[in-house]
Amino acid sequence: MYSVSSISDIVSKTPLENMDVVTSGRNAPLWFRDAQPIEYSKLTKDLTVDDVVVGGGFTGVTTAYLLSKAGRNVALVDDGYIGSGESGRSTAHLTYALDSRYHQIIHMHGEDIARKVMQSHKAAIDLIEANVSREGLNCDFRRVDGYLYLNEESSEEELTKELEALKQMGNDDVQFMEHAGTSPFDPGLCLRFPMQGRVNPLKYLGGLCREIVRNGGKIFTETHITDFESPTVKARSGNKITAQNIVVATNVPVNMRAKMHMKQAPYRTYVVAFKVPKGHVSDALYWSTRLEQGGLANSYTYIRIHPLDEESDALIVGAQDHKTGQADDGMQRFATIKAWVKQHFPQSGEAIYAWSGQIVNPGDEIGFIGRDKDSLFLATGYSGNGTTYGTLAGMVLSDLIFGKENDWAEMYDPERKTLGSAIDIIEENFNVARKLVDSFIKGQDSQPENLALEQGSIVKRGMTTRLAFYKDDKGQLHAFSSVCPHMGCSVSWNSTEKTFDCPCHGSRYTGYGKVVNGPSNFGLRHAEEQK
Ligand SMILES: Cc1cc2nc3c(=O)[nH]c(=O)nc-3n(C[C@H](O)[C@H](O)[C@H](O)COP(=O)(O)OP(=O)(O)OC[C@H]3O[C@@H](n4cnc5c(N)ncnc54)[C@H](O)[C@@H]3O)c2cc1C
Ligand code: FES
Repeated sequence: MYSVSSISDIVSKTPLENMDVVTSGRNAPLWFRDAQPIEYSKLTKDLTVDDVVVGGGFTGVTTAYLLSKAGRNVALVDDGYIGSGESGRSTAHLTYALDSRYHQIIHMHGEDIARKVMQSHKAAIDLIEANVSREGLNCDFRRVDGYLYLNEESSEEELTKELEALKQMGNDDVQFMEHAGTSPFDPGLCLRFPMQGRVNPLKYLGGLCREIVRNGGKIFTETHITDFESPTVKARSGNKITAQNIVVATNVPVNMRAKMHMKQAPYRTYVVAFKVPKGHVSDALYWSTRLEQGGLANSYTYIRIHPLDEESDALIVGAQDHKTGQADDGMQRFATIKAWVKQHFPQSGEAIYAWSGQIVNPGDEIGFIGRDKDSLFLATGYSGNGTTYGTLAGMVLSDLIFGKENDWAEMYDPERKTLGSAIDIIEENFNVARKLVDSFIKGQDSQPENLALEQGSIVKRGMTTRLAFYKDDKGQLHAFSSVCPHMGCSVSWNSTEKTFDCPCHGSRYTGYGKVVNGPSNFGLRHAEEQK
């Protein structure tokens, strides 16, 4: 049987230096095997452009690419390198078979909107394909079929309900199958979604960035934006970019006005990549139906292939989601994935990469894309479909900036009023999180001196104070207030990715207190700054 220690060997082989600018976790995703970190120069002077896009993932890069292609003078800014957020940690299934089932979207928003949601994701895959071909991008893009299959707890009705919903929306492409006919993994009863896609996300984003620059756009990395006051954004260095439009493409908006954290919930998901002989596993996408875990939890298994070299492919399997900051057993979760793979892909070879990342689930099943206020725009709430959401966000946002009609703008409007009871669900989650975390923290090690190298802990000091300690690789302790600067929840330690994660809305911080995920835009306060 696979043990946790055999996985910890892998993750310890794949850390990256200066992790906080390269990617948002300690464990490198597979994509860094073939792609270099995408680095540009820092912003060192004030600038005036037509549009400034903050955040270099699928959302920001696509938006900046489309704007620059149309002749706009664009600046794209990231506080890490390009792809250093969740886009570089994505498994990059390109599909319109969303984490939210269409029968649920129809139930919440009606048939017309559900149909447009499907069309928008189809159009996103088409746009990625067109970009790859137009710009000659070498990024392992391929059209492949996808299979939605039943997990061990679901009944056939789940598939038939979904098929009915697809037909109701006019989709006759998706077929019910007794067997997928794939090997060596044939999941049995399933829905086949033809002509979906897969890509190497870092290579794709790197290719689009090259085109942005060729179109006259400017890209700045390691440039943290602290202020978003239309018409100007201000970097930590003090330099400003003034623009007619500001796009906040930071995965979760970090400008405080937006308050999007009330409408969505953050989850951590785990991925392991295995070496398999070339061609041994059918080149397809697989997704199990959800395993309900209570609340909004929607863990499911997602599987794909990535070509490695002449002899091997990588089998990439993700699963085991949990609410951010509410579990610290990542090694066990990797080991569970590994055991599952051994059972279902007995010929699979060694595990070569293991990493986790963060997804953000919207309260009413669909993402938020559009105008925040005046000339400030945002996009968020993508669940595990952010490669297509980010791409279609680029289409919606560039149309809004051009003042062009966009058929999808209204349904994705961040201010839409259809949320109703969904908002209550998020609120409830928020409260539950607070309670859970309190009890979680009580069990933490209270002796920071005893911490292993590169580990952290939350420690009680007196009745009311809690400190976040991190012991670095040289044995030096770093102490912060454990209070999340966003809205005051207590962070918890994520020993797998070596970050302090906030269980309330998913802000994350390195062991040195630097913010790596919003909604917070500021680091943890040093312990001595507390009083
Ligand atoms: C493990 C995993 C598997 C996934 N699998 C899939 C999949 O198979 N298919 C799919 O479609 N989606 C998948 N997703 C979801 C998808 O990857 C994300 O939703 C998507 O990449 C988000 O893109 P984004 O551009 O909005 O955000 P990000 O890629 O996170 O980009 C935001 C950027 O903003 C920058 N930033 C933040 N704050 C600031 C600031 N103040 N100043 C400057 N820059 C800032 C960050 O450094 C970051 O680079 C997966 C996600 C994970 C974690
Ligand atoms: S992310 Fe909101 S309180 Fe921490």
